[in-house]
Amino acid sequence: MEKALSGVKILDMTHVQSGPTCTQLLAWFGADVIKVERPGVGDATRKQLVDVPGADSLYFTMLNHNKRSVTLNPKSEKGAEIFTKLIEHCDVMVENFAPGALDRMGFSWERIQEINPRMIYASVKGFGPGAYADCKVYENVAQCAGGSASTTGHLGDVPMVTAAQIGDSGTGLHLALGIVTALFQRTHTGKGQRVECAMQDGVLNLCRVKLRDQQRLAAGPLKEYSQHGQGIPFGEATPRAGNDSGGGQPGRILKCKGWENDPNAYTYFITQAAVWKNVCDVIGKPEWKEDPEYATPEVRLPRLDEIFETVEEWTMTKDKFEVMEICNPLNIPVGPILSMKEIAEDPSLRETGTVVEVDHPERGKYLTVGNPIKLSDSPSDVVRSPLLGEHTEQILSEIGLSSEDIAAARDDSAI
Ligand code: COA
Repeated sequence: MEKALSGVKILDMTHVQSGPTCTQLLAWFGADVIKVERPGVGDATRKQLVDVPGADSLYFTMLNHNKRSVTLNPKSEKGAEIFTKLIEHCDVMVENFAPGALDRMGFSWERIQEINPRMIYASVKGFGPGAYADCKVYENVAQCAGGSASTTGHLGDVPMVTAAQIGDSGTGLHLALGIVTALFQRTHTGKGQRVECAMQDGVLNLCRVKLRDQQRLAAGPLKEYSQHGQGIPFGEATPRAGNDSGGGQPGRILKCKGWENDPNAYTYFITQAAVWKNVCDVIGKPEWKEDPEYATPEVRLPRLDEIFETVEEWTMTKDKFEVMEICNPLNIPVGPILSMKEIAEDPSLRETGTVVEVDHPERGKYLTVGNPIKLSDSPSDVVRSPLLGEHTEQILSEIGLSSEDIAAARDDSAI
C-alpha cells in the first residue's frame, strides 16, 4: 500500500533524541529517511546505555526505526561532493547539531538553497535567537527554560523535571508538523523554506496552561489550586501544584487497595462538578449531595483535603482497575496509574501497534513504541533500525556513484 509520505526523501543529519524522533515519525508515514552518520562512529546513542554488549543500544534502536544508514564525512573533499549530490536528491534536510555546525561543514542555508531551491531545511536548536542562541541544550535544560520545571512538583519542594521527554521528543513532534506543512506549501510555491523549532518554545507551547495561570494571578488567587483551600497565599509566579488537575476541576492521586506493597496502586480521581452527586453515592456520602457545606464547587474549595481523604477511604477498598470499572459508567473521570511493566504487557496496546516487538540481528527481540498517530490509508509497520552504514553502497549507487567512485570515497575515508 502507498504510504502518506511515499516518495518524500529526507536527508537525516539528526542525532540523540529530538531530531531522530522527528525523522522516525516521517519514516513511519512512508518517507525514505537517509540517516547520515559519521564514519566508524555513528550517532552517539548507538553506544549509550548499552544493555547487550556489542549491539546497538535500545536508546538508538527505539528512535531510528524505518530508516536507512549511510556513513559520510561531509568535511572531507569527496564527502562534500557526495553530500552535495544527496542535497540535490532529497526534499527535506533535518538536523539538530549545536548552532553553527552545518555552516562549519560548509553547508549554510544559503548554500543549500543554491544546490536545491526546493529543499526544506529543518532544525532543532535549544533556544531561538537571543542571549542563549549559541547554547547546547539537552532535555532537562529545555524543561527548566520552558517553564515546565518551575510549575512541576509539590508546593514548598524543589522544581521537578518530568519523565515525559517534552523537550526532545516534544520538539521533534513540533518539527515534524513544520516539515509536512512546508511540504504542503511547496506544492503551491515550488520553493523550499527553513523550518526551525527551539526546544524552549516547544516546552512552553506544552505548558501554556501555566502561562494562562500566571496572568490569572493578577485577578486574584487561583481558587482551584489546592493551596488556596489550604489558606496558603500565592506569590508572584505560577506555583507548583502537585497533582492538582490543570483544567480547574479538583483532582488528586489517591491510594488504592495494595498501595502498601505496590508503588503504582494508585488512581487519579477528579471530583468533577457535573457528576458530584455520583461521586457522593459512590463514596457512601449521599448526604453531601444537598448539604450546603458540600453541594457547590465554591463551598467545596476549602474542604478539598477532607473530601479527597474521604474519597481515598473508598478507593483504598478497591484496586485501581475496579475504581475505573465502577466510576467510568458514572462519568466520574478516573485513571489507573499504570507501570511501564503493565503497559509493556497490555494486550490491547499490542493489538493497536502502539507497543511493538521488533527483531534485531545484533540484539534479538525487543519492545518499542509504534506510531501513535493512526492513518486509515497509511498504516505504519515498524522496521528495525539500520546498522551503522548498512545502506551506504545502496544509497550512493542510487544517486549515481559508480563502484569505482564508492571505492575511492572509501580510500579517502569519506564514507
Ligand atoms: N562527519 C563528520 N563530522 C560530523 C558528522 C559527520 N557525519 N556529523 C556530525 N559531525 C560533527 C559536526 O560537524 C560537529 O563538529 P564541530 O563542532 O567541529 O563543528 C560535531 O560532529 C557535532 O557537534 P554537536 O552537535 O556540537 O554535538 P555534541 O555532542 O557536542 O552536542 C547536543 C550535542 C545535542 C548538545 C547539540 O547537538 C545541540 O545542542 N543540539 C541542538 C539541540 C538539541 O537537539 N538538543 C537535544 C538533543 S536530544
